[in-house]
Amino acid sequence: MTLKLSVVGTGYLGATHAACMSSLGFTVIGVDTDAQKIAQLSRGELPFYEPGLDTLLVSEIKTGRLTFTTDFSAVADADVHFICVGTPQSKDGLAADLTYVKASVAAIAPYLKNGSLVVGKSTVPVGTAQMLRDQLAISAPHADLAWNPEFLREGFAVEDTLTPNRLVVGVANDRAETILKEVYAPVIALGTPWIRADLPTAELVKVAANSFLATKISFINAMAEVCEAAGGDVTVLAKAIGYDPRIGNRFLQAGIGFGGGCLPKDIRAFMARAEELGAKQALEFLREIDQINLRARQRVIDVVRADLSEDLTKYRIAVLGATFKPDSDDVRDSPALDIAAQLHAAGAKVIVHDPKGIEPARKRFPTLAFEEDVRVAVKDADAILHLTEWKEYRELDPAAIGQLVKSKFLIDGRNMLDRDKWRNAGWRVHALGRTD
Ligand code: UGA
Repeated sequence: MTLKLSVVGTGYLGATHAACMSSLGFTVIGVDTDAQKIAQLSRGELPFYEPGLDTLLVSEIKTGRLTFTTDFSAVADADVHFICVGTPQSKDGLAADLTYVKASVAAIAPYLKNGSLVVGKSTVPVGTAQMLRDQLAISAPHADLAWNPEFLREGFAVEDTLTPNRLVVGVANDRAETILKEVYAPVIALGTPWIRADLPTAELVKVAANSFLATKISFINAMAEVCEAAGGDVTVLAKAIGYDPRIGNRFLQAGIGFGGGCLPKDIRAFMARAEELGAKQALEFLREIDQINLRARQRVIDVVRADLSEDLTKYRIAVLGATFKPDSDDVRDSPALDIAAQLHAAGAKVIVHDPKGIEPARKRFPTLAFEEDVRVAVKDADAILHLTEWKEYRELDPAAIGQLVKSKFLIDGRNMLDRDKWRNAGWRVHALGRTD
């Protein structure tokens, strides 16, 4: 008989996981405490932007396999329960806030049927899975717990869930592995590497992967700083080192650095956890990774001040991009929005454009000015800042935009625009990490 699944937490990760598991043929119940979110999802409306997930959600609801509820007792039917709630940075420090993970496991515990498996997918500090498993041994001794970290990227969520580059499962026994192999059978059949680990290793794989990615980005941004000081070009440098397969050319895009709901908070939580474990020194370098990352934002502000004036009150600055990356409406810890807000706080008249992120950005910074039409956003601007690399910005016509602005000054914070094209149209272009 086909397994029945529940997904606890229907945010970004949970909604994606629920729809994808349904598409593999499972009956899936998505549960969340947020009644509004559940109502939206039940109507087939996605509360956030993610390419391809909107249509998948609608088609899976139509099959009758995928339903959503706020009633936790509805999980009683399920055999496998995926915990997909958030683990944000705590308000009072660097550590991850485990409130939602603990509450989710406690909420489903009374309904867990004999032999069911709870599977954590949220990113958690190492040791959390064992702690939850110990608690479950008291509250629901007939159930088991495993950890199965998620590596999906926003913008590619469906693809990364259905065709991941690996599946990692942290299990305490063979039975848990067998159940997870049954869930992921269609994905395993594609040849996806399967890695069985113990619980702490599975938790560590996730934060180690995100720390490595963050390190790669900050490494190239550190090189950008040196290139600026030495008269070099970081884009050429990145291309040249990237040909070495041991280094690889991906995640070497220099610019204003990483943001979002994962990389920044994950490296901080990892440092906090290492300190608790007595391994503080091992992750000291991540503090520097964080600093380099934040410095990239400051460097853009420094360029604006150096070029326009220390006093920005008379200047109008158009910011292209508010989300932390393209193909997402996520503005959590967005470097673009942070820069916009800092320039606004410094007195500049800042107008922000974004193809998908205006509403979430406005919620976060209601005092910033937003414009849905890029041509209106750039009107009379003294500088344009390209801060999120949406495709539509690469398609802008520099000559036409040049007719609208007050001064043809462009800062490319993502090193993604065709510098020659803009220069040929009479623009002064400053690209991070490139001196000529
Ligand atoms: C990241 C990881 O890439 C996923 O594998 C992981 O599952 C996810 O976090 C998570 O923990 O849930 P995501 O936050 O969607 O995924 O974003 P990334 O594609 O990793 O980009 C993060 C940030 O780095 C963005 O702000 C992006 O603009 C920046 N970045 C990326 C660069 O500045 N340079 C690069 O070369 C690449």
